Amino acid sequence: MAENDFMAGFLDQIEPLKQAALAELDGAADLAALEQARVNYLGANGRFTALMKQLGTLPREEKPAAGKAINGAKVELEAALARRRGELELKAALPAEPTDFTLPGRRRILGKLHPLTQVTEDIVRSFRKIGFVVAEGPEVEDDYHCFDALNTPADHPARDTQDTFYLGGAETEAAPPLLLRTHTSSVQIRVMEKQSPPVRIIVPGRCYRRDNADATHNPTFHQVEGLYVDRNVTVGDLKGTVEFVFKELMGEETQIRFRPHYFSYTEPSFEIDFSSPMTRKMGREWLEIAGCGMVHPQVIENVGYDAEVWNGWAFGFGIERIAMIRYGINDIRLFYENDLRFLKQF
Ligand code: DAH
Repeated sequence: MAENDFMAGFLDQIEPLKQAALAELDGAADLAALEQARVNYLGANGRFTALMKQLGTLPREEKPAAGKAINGAKVELEAALARRRGELELKAALPAEPTDFTLPGRRRILGKLHPLTQVTEDIVRSFRKIGFVVAEGPEVEDDYHCFDALNTPADHPARDTQDTFYLGGAETEAAPPLLLRTHTSSVQIRVMEKQSPPVRIIVPGRCYRRDNADATHNPTFHQVEGLYVDRNVTVGDLKGTVEFVFKELMGEETQIRFRPHYFSYTEPSFEIDFSSPMTRKMGREWLEIAGCGMVHPQVIENVGYDAEVWNGWAFGFGIERIAMIRYGINDIRLFYENDLRFLKQF
C-alpha cells in the first residue's frame, strides 16, 4: 500500500512538472532564456531529470508503467524545446524591423566611361570600319623617335625645353635624352621600324607639354595619330578618310576643308578645319581640328622603307578638342577634375 502511494506520488508529480516546463520553454523570449529553461528542467541537475532519477527507486513491477509515463513526458518536452528553438532561431535571423516589400528597390549607381574614353572609342570604331588597327607606343620617349626621325631638326621650336618635359640623365649617343612625348607622331616611327609596309594604324594616346593650364590647354592631353603607308597613296585618300570619320563622329552635316600648313614630317602639309551645326552654335563657321599631310620621303627613308615604292599620309588631332566640340564643353580642365556632377552628364 505504501509502495502504491509512493508510485501514485511519483506519477502525480509528472504532469505538473511537465506543464511548468512547457510553460517555461514555450514562454522563453530568446535563445538564452530557452537554454536556461532547458537547464532548469532537462539539464544534469534539472528538476525533470531529478524526477527521472527517482525511477530507479521504484519497485521493479512499478517501473514499466512509471517509465512509460515519464518517458512520454520527456519526449514531449524535447519536442517543445526543439520547436521553440526553431522559432527563436528564425526570429534571431530576421531583421529587427519588419521588411516592407512594397518599398521601391534601391538602384545601384553604375560607373561609366569617361567622356574622353567614349570619344576615343568612337574614333577607333570608325577607323576600324575602314581597316585601321590600333597601335601603341611609350609615353616616355627618346628625342630620336619624338623629333629626329620625324625630320624635326635639333633647332626646331617643337623641341624647345619651353614646351617639352625632358627627363634629364646623360645625353650620350647610346642613351639619347628621354622626354615625355609631345605628340603621338613618335609611334608612326616605332611601328614602321618594326613592320614592313603597307601600314594602316591609328594611335590613341596621352601626350605632354609644358603648357600652363587654361580653358583650352592642359599639360597632359590626348591625341589620335593616323598613318597610312602603301603604294600610290594620294591626298584624295587622306581627305576621303578624314571626311568619313568626321561625319561619323560629328554628324552627316559635317564639312571639312584643308588649309596649307607646315609640318616637318609631311610634305605637303595641311591643317584640317571643320564646320558643323555645333561649331556654328559655338559661334564659329570653321574650327581648326587637326594636322595632316603626305608623309615626308625623308621619314619613309628614316625607317628603312624605299621611298621610291612607298608613300603615305598621316594626321594627328586632339581628342579633348573633339570632345569639347561634340558636347559643347568650354573648359578643357573639366575633363581632369573628376567632378561627378560633370562626368555624370555623358
Ligand atoms: N603632331 C602634330 C601635333 O602634335 C599633329 C600632326 C600633324 C600629326 C601632322 C601628323 C601630321 O601625323 O601629319 O600638333
